[in-house]
Amino acid sequence: MVKKPFIYIANWKMNINSLKTASTFFASLIETKELQKSAIVICPSDIHLYPLIQQVNGMHFNIGAQNCSAYSSGAYTGEISATALADIGCTYCIVGHSERRLYFHETDDLIAQKAQQLFIQNITPIICIGESEKDYTDKTTTKVLQKQLSKILEIINHAHDIQKPFYLAYEPVWAIGTGKVASVQYLQEIFDWMAKHLEENSHSSTLFRLLYGGSVDEQSAEPIRQIKHVGGFLIGSASLDFQKFKKIVLLH
Ligand code: PGA
Repeated sequence: MVKKPFIYIANWKMNINSLKTASTFFASLIETKELQKSAIVICPSDIHLYPLIQQVNGMHFNIGAQNCSAYSSGAYTGEISATALADIGCTYCIVGHSERRLYFHETDDLIAQKAQQLFIQNITPIICIGESEKDYTDKTTTKVLQKQLSKILEIINHAHDIQKPFYLAYEPVWAIGTGKVASVQYLQEIFDWMAKHLEENSHSSTLFRLLYGGSVDEQSAEPIRQIKHVGGFLIGSASLDFQKFKKIVLLH
């Protein structure tokens, strides 16, 4: 399990809709000396990917997409392929976010196909999994995670080049954008379970990194960062404001 360097991934969702605002954020990122050694990936709107990749050219910050097509190319109006993302220099891509599962009815099969497209293009997939509030109260979290992981593991176990990095973001759906965060003890149990499950059910040399997402902010970040197996954060709301994001990255 890869834990270092701890990585900070900003999921801007559809919140920053102006290239000028996105570019100003990046200018601050580039100008801030203390952040030069931090592992940071920013995931803006697709339409801003290319100009922002140009802006960070030569810097060590990475840019990620928030979604990609399950198909490699063809008559799929409105879709963006992993090939096109790779072509402009995009190195990370989120797939299977709970908002896509919920609002766009994405299934585990579809998400696994998207991850496969990303693997082929050497783009690191950031695959999101997580239980609903009902699953949480019914104590069926690991059962849900196991189901969400099964197709993904099939793909990993059939991939020829298994040395490619693979990020798995555990995001309890009830913690996303709500300010609610699970207890450290609960998260420790879930991360221990995920680490063991991946070890037992995947090719041993896969470069797994486990991330946590869901209401990460200045207050919640530090105790979660200490949890064994947590190798990074996927940050939504708190990544929209440069100063807030910077504080989280520089807290430790
Ligand atoms: P949040 O979002 O930090 O606003 O809870 C996280 C996410 O949806 O990835």
